[in-house]
Amino acid sequence: DEHGAVLRDLAGRELLITAGGTREDLDPVRFLANHSSGRQGWALAHAALVRGARVRVAAASVDLETPPGARRLDVRSAAELAETVAEHRGQVDALVMAAAVADFTAADRSPEKIKKDDGDEDSVPSIDLRRTEDILRHSVLDRGGASHPAIVGFAAETGGNGGSALDLARAKARRKGADLLVFNDVTAGVFGSSDNAVRILDREGQEVAEAAGSKTAVAHAVLDELAGHLPDVPW
Ligand code: CTP
Ligand code: CA
Repeated sequence: DEHGAVLRDLAGRELLITAGGTREDLDPVRFLANHSSGRQGWALAHAALVRGARVRVAAASVDLETPPGARRLDVRSAAELAETVAEHRGQVDALVMAAAVADFTAADRSPEKIKKDDGDEDSVPSIDLRRTEDILRHSVLDRGGASHPAIVGFAAETGGNGGSALDLARAKARRKGADLLVFNDVTAGVFGSSDNAVRILDREGQEVAEAAGSKTAVAHAVLDELAGHLPDVPW
């Protein structure tokens, strides 16, 4: 890639990029999942490697070949991803949370397959859910006032009663406190496609950049902004 090959601006830097979508098991055969393919996280990993970074990818059910040179850490659930991020975030210059993380998980995973009651045609089980850890928020709080690691969040929003997609993203940027929040309007539906369009917000919700095109182009735009937030001394 022209951009990074010229730059190599991330040489000596270590990045942890989460990608894909977590799966929350309900019973031995069923799980809650989401539409994330891992392609944007993968594009970030490829772009960072081209720019000279060392890259760890925490991959939540990503069915793609590991970017050559990256260290792959496979995870399944939000809890597993939280554990992996907690283990690695102190050893990197930046944490990039591109994964779609389940907000809820089963309160009690059934050890047996949940059965429908054939004696009662109307019976429907109820599944109790509980909140998962907000890994991004937790990571921001965990670093305290330090600038290490730089932290990037992602937000896919649709507009609604709470306001426009952009309004919601601005509020989220302020709430999360990450250095950057990469926002995309998913009304058009980008999951699984190779193209993307994003706006990059700072922690005050101000737009600092926008990018559209291939996920590779978006990845480089995110890394351009991230470069300005890296700690002074490389990990
Ligand atoms: N995220 C996280 N841990 C979670 C949920 C989300 O780290 N349990 C991260 C995502 O990886 C993403 C960012 O937080 O980088 C924003 O995710 P999003 O789902 O948009 O935000 P939520 O706070 O979960 O709000 P909501 O789903 O209600 O819009
Ligand atoms: Ca969420």
